[in-house]
Amino acid sequence: MRRKLVVGNWKMHGSRVANEPLLAAIAQGRPYACDVAVCAPFLYIAEVAVAFAGGDLRWGAQDCSVHEQGAYTGEVSAAMLAEFGCRYVIVGHSERRQYHQESDQLVADKAKAALAKGVTPIVCVGESLAQREAGQTDDVVKRQLSAVIHTLAHCAGEMVVAYEPVWAIGTGRTATPEQAQDVHALLRAQLHAATPHAAQMKILYGGSVKADNAASLFAQPDIDGGLIGGASLKANDFIAICRAAG
Ligand code: PGA
Repeated sequence: MRRKLVVGNWKMHGSRVANEPLLAAIAQGRPYACDVAVCAPFLYIAEVAVAFAGGDLRWGAQDCSVHEQGAYTGEVSAAMLAEFGCRYVIVGHSERRQYHQESDQLVADKAKAALAKGVTPIVCVGESLAQREAGQTDDVVKRQLSAVIHTLAHCAGEMVVAYEPVWAIGTGRTATPEQAQDVHALLRAQLHAATPHAAQMKILYGGSVKADNAASLFAQPDIDGGLIGGASLKANDFIAICRAAG
C-alpha cells in the first residue's frame, strides 16, 4: 500500500499575520494518517519549518533554480531549500510553464537539481482545456513526463508526480474521479516502463480538490493524494482533505 500524501500549494498567498494561525491549526490537527506537507512562498519557508519542527509534517518550496549557485539574480537553489529542511519542491506547475515559459526540459532539469540535493521534486503535468477537447490529453502528459524520466534516468523512481489538468486549477471544475484515474493509470504505466519503483511512486491529483470531493478522488487506485491550492489556505478545509486521505 502506498501511503497517501497531501501537499498544500500556497502559491503567492500568505502573510505573517495569516500564516501563524493556519500553520498552528495544521500542526494541532496531528496525527494524520497520511503524509502532509506545505509548500509556501520562499520567504515563509523558515516560518513553516519552525511551526512544524519536531513532528512528522513536511514542508517545501514551489520552484527552484536549475543552477547550483552563481550570478542568477532572483533565483533560489535546491541547496538553499535543503538547508531549510525542505522535503519537497514543486516543479513544472502549469502557472510556471505558462507565465514563465518553462519548457519540459527546464522542468526536468529543475527536478534533477532538486534530487541532487536530496529534495524530492513534485513534478506537475497536465493538459489545457483546448488540448483535452482536441483529444490530446494522453500525448501531452506523456510528453511532459517523458522529459523528466529521461533526464532523471535511474533516479526517476524518486520523484513524486502530480497530475493537474490546467482546466481544473482554481476553476472549481474538478476532474471526475474516473477522468483523473484514467490519466493516473496512464502515467503509472509510463513509470513502470521506466523504473522498477513505479508501484511505490506517488501520483497526486491537483485541481479544485476540496473537502467534499477529496475522498472520492483519493479512493481511486492510482491516486495517491493531492496537491491542494485554494483549499490549503483554509485550515479546516485543508485538514478535512488530509483526513479524507487517511
Ligand atoms: P487549486 O490549485 O486547488 O486551487 O485548483 C491546485 C494547484 O494549482 O496546485
